[in-house]
Amino acid sequence: MRLLITGGTGFVGSRLVERALADGHQVMVVSRDPASAGKRLGSSVSVRESAAAFVDEKPDAIVNLAGEPIADRRWSDSQKARLIESRRHATRDVVSLCEQLAATGEAPGVLVSGSAMGYYGDQGDREVTEQTPPHDEFAHRLCDMWEHEAHKAEAFGTRVACLRIGLVLDEGGGTLAKMTPAFKLGVGGKIGNGRQYMPWIHREDLVRIIEFLLTRDDLEGAFNAGAPNPVTNAGFTRALGRHLHRPTPFFVPAPLLKAALGEMSRLLLTGACMRPKRLEDAGFDFRYPTLDDALAAIFDK
Ligand SMILES: NC(=O)c1ccc[n+]([C@@H]2O[C@H](COP(=O)([O-])OP(=O)(O)OC[C@H]3O[C@@H](n4cnc5c(N)ncnc54)[C@H](OP(=O)(O)O)[C@@H]3O)[C@@H](O)[C@H]2O)c1
Repeated sequence: MRLLITGGTGFVGSRLVERALADGHQVMVVSRDPASAGKRLGSSVSVRESAAAFVDEKPDAIVNLAGEPIADRRWSDSQKARLIESRRHATRDVVSLCEQLAATGEAPGVLVSGSAMGYYGDQGDREVTEQTPPHDEFAHRLCDMWEHEAHKAEAFGTRVACLRIGLVLDEGGGTLAKMTPAFKLGVGGKIGNGRQYMPWIHREDLVRIIEFLLTRDDLEGAFNAGAPNPVTNAGFTRALGRHLHRPTPFFVPAPLLKAALGEMSRLLLTGACMRPKRLEDAGFDFRYPTLDDALAAIFDK
């Protein structure tokens, strides 16, 4: 397969690149800095600054993961614009490539494009499937725009699947890299009242889901990419403390977090009990269905 990946230097994308190379696929990556991305990813990966620049390579599948990190900076108006525009730009670039290739009858067969659990917004403790109506808030509007742009590739004959991704867990980055230092010091604890849901997924399972959707021609639309057993923040806190052999006596009061992070505090204080209904219905088999399975694989080596 000739596979084009945007965000191939990221936490998820870099693992996808490794697996795709190991499986013998030809891998192309879009990066804002092709020289340093090329050094990181190795000489067998071709790196260019835009998806459209790969028109001569005729990719037959695309995975679209690029975007300004969601939780690295406070959500000022300018940062919100960066979150939106980075994803809109990357996705339009990919769709433009589909359009150019369609003109010669060689449109990519499939686009698997990012989205996030934030699509649903705050859902309290209600069980959330792909059918659940979203709560209108910034995270929802961001994901909705991202999915909407991706679906434009369908006009050129490309199958589109969007992944509403939960917190991605593995060593070397993502949520755990942010959380574990405090927990290792023994000052970890729940956030607010701890009742908010934190859908999560082991990075290996996410990469396997992407591979599953790349090859299953009958699957399109939105898919919840979270493990089948989401937990609350309190449950996550207890499990992480257990696997790191540390107590979790503290908690971060919600008003403090709201004062410190503003609207971005919603990422930590609200959530959705998101279930991967469509993936399970399609027969996807999770290797790490419970948080204990995932944390054991990551920490108990
Ligand atoms: N990790 C999670 O827990 C999680 C959860 C839900 C959703 N997601 C979504 O899934 C996608 C992949 O996640 P990830 O953790 O692998 O993300 P990541 O590590 O932050 O990587 C995303 C990639 O996007 C590119 N990028 C960063 N800022 C950009 C900007 N301003 N404009 C254009 N490109 C930019 C970077 O590539 P270059 O520097 O090479 O250009 C980066 O490697 C992201 O879009 C993320 O929002 C992730």
